[in-house]
Amino acid sequence: MKIFLDSSKISEAKKWMPVIDGATTNPSILLKDGSDIYEFLEAMEGKPVSIEACGDFVTDARKYAALEAVEVVVKIPLLNIKGGSNLHIIKELSEEGIFINCTALMSLSQVILATKAGARYVSLFAGRVEDEGGNSVEMIEDCMFFLDQEEPGGTELIVGSIRTVGNVLDAVRAGAHIVTIPPAILEKMLMHRYSLETVRQFEEDTKVLADMAMKR
Ligand code: E4P
Repeated sequence: MKIFLDSSKISEAKKWMPVIDGATTNPSILLKDGSDIYEFLEAMEGKPVSIEACGDFVTDARKYAALEAVEVVVKIPLLNIKGGSNLHIIKELSEEGIFINCTALMSLSQVILATKAGARYVSLFAGRVEDEGGNSVEMIEDCMFFLDQEEPGGTELIVGSIRTVGNVLDAVRAGAHIVTIPPAILEKMLMHRYSLETVRQFEEDTKVLADMAMKR
C-alpha cells in the first residue's frame, strides 16, 4: 500500500518525505495552502504529484506533462461542469503517454469507466461517498475486485477525501493501492499519548542513571 500526501505544502512534503510515495493536489488545496505548484513539484523529489487540469483540459494537461525532472500526473474529472463525459479526453491523453488521475469519482461504475478509458490512477472520494450516506468500504472492496480482475499491475485506486484516521485504516483493510492523506491526519497517525509518556519516562530515567554514574 502506498501513501500519498493530500497537500501542496512544501513544509509538509519535507516532513513526511520518509513515508510518502507521491502527492495529490486540487485547486481547493492550492487555494487553501497558498502554494506555488512548481516549487512544490521540486520539493517532491521526483515522486508523482497529481495536478488538476482546468479550463481547456487537453492544453493544460500537455503543459504539465511537458515539465522535466518532475513526475506530473494530470487530474481529469470524469465529468465536465455541464455533466458531459471527459472519457474521450482521458483516452486521448493516456494514449499520448500522459499519466491521468481520473478524479472526483464517487461510484464503482465511474471507476470502471475511467479505468477502461486508460486512466493510470482512479481517485475515489471516500469521505464524500460517506457524506451522501454511501458505504465507502464496500465500494473500495468492489473497486479492488474489479481492478484486480481487469488489470493486475495496471490502474491503481487512490482513496481520497480522508477525514479521520479510521478512514485510512478502513482503506488499508479494504486493500486500496494508495491512500492520499491530509497532513493533519498523518499527524494523528503519528501521535499517541502513551508513546509520548513512555519516551519521556525513559528520558528521565536516563538522566537519573547518568547522575548515579557521576556519583560513583
Ligand atoms: C484527492 O485527490 C482529493 O483531491 C482530496 O482527497 C479531496 O478531499 P476532500 O473531499 O476533503 O475535498
